[in-house]
Amino acid sequence: MSDRKLLVTGASGKLGSQVVKHLLETLQVAPSALIVTTRRADSLKALAEQGVEVREADFADPVSLDKAFAGVRNMLLISMDATGPRTEAHLNAVAAAEKAGVEHIVYTSMSAADRSPVVFAHEHDATEKAIKQSAIANATILRNGWYFENVIEYFASILQSGHWLTSAAEGRVAQLSRQDLALAAASALVKPAQGKVTLSMSGAESMTHAQMAQQMDAVLGTHINMVHLSDDEYRAQLAGFALPAPIVELCVTMDQHNREQCADGTSEAFEALTGQQPQRFADWLEAHKTELQELANS
Ligand SMILES: NC(=O)c1ccc[n+]([C@@H]2O[C@H](COP(=O)([O-])OP(=O)(O)OC[C@H]3O[C@@H](n4cnc5c(N)ncnc54)[C@H](OP(=O)(O)O)[C@@H]3O)[C@@H](O)[C@H]2O)c1
Repeated sequence: MSDRKLLVTGASGKLGSQVVKHLLETLQVAPSALIVTTRRADSLKALAEQGVEVREADFADPVSLDKAFAGVRNMLLISMDATGPRTEAHLNAVAAAEKAGVEHIVYTSMSAADRSPVVFAHEHDATEKAIKQSAIANATILRNGWYFENVIEYFASILQSGHWLTSAAEGRVAQLSRQDLALAAASALVKPAQGKVTLSMSGAESMTHAQMAQQMDAVLGTHINMVHLSDDEYRAQLAGFALPAPIVELCVTMDQHNREQCADGTSEAFEALTGQQPQRFADWLEAHKTELQELANS
């Protein structure tokens, strides 16, 4: 076996830090076999102290990537958070991985990246295509479902107002926890390569927004009122809250995505990859009950 290493980009992020934890603790990867990247090395000091090699890499700076990806065999490319400059930045990362002789690239994409109406889907689609067209021999494209955590990080207003405004109608969403998606990404990085594959990482249950609200009420004691709207009505309501136009379009296109069953799916691929069942929504709600109830009352 070659002594070339595993590499995780975005290791300082919420997903990346959980991936690294799974690699070191769940999958027993030796710290010396792992490289992590960030734009600010001091953000990963704790990992450096454990013996993990920390390198600086900015997808917007191809020169930094040549150095950062040298000596890497398997690489996890975590999609960056800033939409807009993402396509060019991700393509820089794929080109640098190819140049460095990476043998297996894992990429965190999104559900239905090739047909989703979500405003940023084209960035994932372009990255998937660049990976497929690259000379990198093996690729695992993980089409990640929505995180349960989005309830806390982006849609807390549902809990706070008690009203769920939506144009997703009866669209089903097979969401899952960030923790489970981190395990999936870590597993994909260490598993033997198998050519170029695209895997849908979906949760164990595919639910409409109304069914999710019922589970939230049952666990949290909330009384969420579903407000079903057309896309135009939803857009007008959100604009009325003085949200910036790009956020309004993001929300409306996410609900289109859900309505068009782009977020629907089953968990077989997740189970085959990780050997585990994904956490169910009710169990995730129970595990985060105090935080969610505090949010609802804030
Ligand atoms: N499925 C979902 O529901 C969902 C929800 C939210 C986000 N996401 C996607 O999943 C990704 C990971 O999620 P997360 O929650 O871990 O996000 P996060 O905590 O915001 O982490 C984003 C990571 O992107 C890295 N990054 C940003 N700009 C970069 C650049 N120019 N070059 C290299 N790295 C850069 C950051 O690294 P440094 O700052 O250390 O350089 C950071 O570690 C997000 O970036 C987004 O694409 C999915």
